[in-house]
Amino acid sequence: MAVDIVIIGLGYVGLPLAREATLAGMSVVGFDVNKAMVESLNAGRSHVDDLSDDDIADMTRRGFTATTDASVIATADAAVICVPTPLLKEGGPDLGAVQSATEAVARHLHPGMLVVLESTTYPGTTDELVRPILETGGLLAGKDFHLAFSPERIDPGNKDFGPGNTPKVVGGHTPACTEVAAAMYGRFVDTVVRTKGTREAETAKLLENTYRHVNIALVNEMAKFCHRLDIDLWDVIRAASSKPFGFQAFYPGPGVGGHCIPIDPNYLSHNVRQRLGYPFRFVELAEEINATMPAYVARRAQNILNDAGLATSGANVLLLGVTYKANIADERESPAVPLARDLNGLGAKVSYHDPYVEEWHPDIDVVRADDLEGAVASADLVILVQNHRDYDADRLAATAKRFFDTRGVTRSDDAQRL
Ligand SMILES: NC(=O)c1ccc[n+]([C@@H]2O[C@H](COP(=O)([O-])OP(=O)(O)OC[C@H]3O[C@@H](n4cnc5c(N)ncnc54)[C@H](O)[C@@H]3O)[C@@H](O)[C@H]2O)c1
Repeated sequence: MAVDIVIIGLGYVGLPLAREATLAGMSVVGFDVNKAMVESLNAGRSHVDDLSDDDIADMTRRGFTATTDASVIATADAAVICVPTPLLKEGGPDLGAVQSATEAVARHLHPGMLVVLESTTYPGTTDELVRPILETGGLLAGKDFHLAFSPERIDPGNKDFGPGNTPKVVGGHTPACTEVAAAMYGRFVDTVVRTKGTREAETAKLLENTYRHVNIALVNEMAKFCHRLDIDLWDVIRAASSKPFGFQAFYPGPGVGGHCIPIDPNYLSHNVRQRLGYPFRFVELAEEINATMPAYVARRAQNILNDAGLATSGANVLLLGVTYKANIADERESPAVPLARDLNGLGAKVSYHDPYVEEWHPDIDVVRADDLEGAVASADLVILVQNHRDYDADRLAATAKRFFDTRGVTRSDDAQRL
């Protein structure tokens, strides 16, 4: 049976996309190499934060199925690749999953098919890696089949913007490829933004995330000297934000995490260095600054204990929220991990509380606190790392012996802010 679209890779990006297309009335199949996850999806269980088990049941009722059988690609009008692009040890992107997913598509490519890459990657990937693999069977991109890149902009946990109402950037191998891809996304996305080609679409994604990375580094660096100069940076940002043009607020924090901000700018800097032989200095500096934040928070924690006449060695330090952002369960690249290790290195006894994380393994001994109130009251120092909506930070700060707020959300003098 023919299907409108096969989504390849059913993770944080692919599954919400599959839901949006299914809701729009398209026939959708998901293909993933993870057998256990495919079985669990077909049994009605969601593994991503933004979709509930009810959402999966609803998708299934509308005809969605997941499979590990790549031959389903042969039945689809369009294939959208949403597989991971992690970093290699030396800093460049690991395109192993993109390559094997593209090879699977190539084996089942048919004339007239649309192939879209959504995985975040360096400029040129669609044209230089994906296209040659797809063309090995003799069909040509832009002539026999359509090829495009469309970056995924999903913001996990965002209740206002999801796949349907976040504008979708689309860049095709040829203008006709762009139009075919735009028409497909136009069936379930409100606004489609066309670029000149695949490289512009690839680079647009990297510009967005580099912009965030650099601006977060700017306020992180300011947080360090403002503290020493006794200037409340949170108040500064609030005041600057009143300017109705030319300023966008970014906030300091204990470090950047997740799969996008700490990783994506590397694709660009690696590419610039490899092709042009010089560094992308903004990205490298931002990385350097953001990477120092967990150690900076640990040092501030040490100072807070010191001011109270307590040694960090042997002190009970409780971390609140260990995911990479608030209100989701995703722990990838969370700055809580280096922070916990730094505190442990200083001799502190580290415990954590997180309503979204049952088990946490930062490679040191940590104890999970089940009783939030009791753990907050008994710790020598509480550090708010992620302000999950379950936390009432001011109330917790009032009951804690010492409270260090790395998110700038407390209003009372019971807390020290980053
Ligand atoms: N998570 C985000 O917030 C986010 C936002 C924007 C862009 N992205 C980008 O989207 C891409 C996917 O990210 P994600 O967070 O969805 O990853 P993920 O790890 O949540 O999911 C990826 C899925 O792809 C599957 N997979 C791996 N290799 C495969 C193959 N050869 N064939 C079929 N399936 C395969 C995995 O089993 C997994 O289920 C990455 O390039 C990422 O940078 C992610």
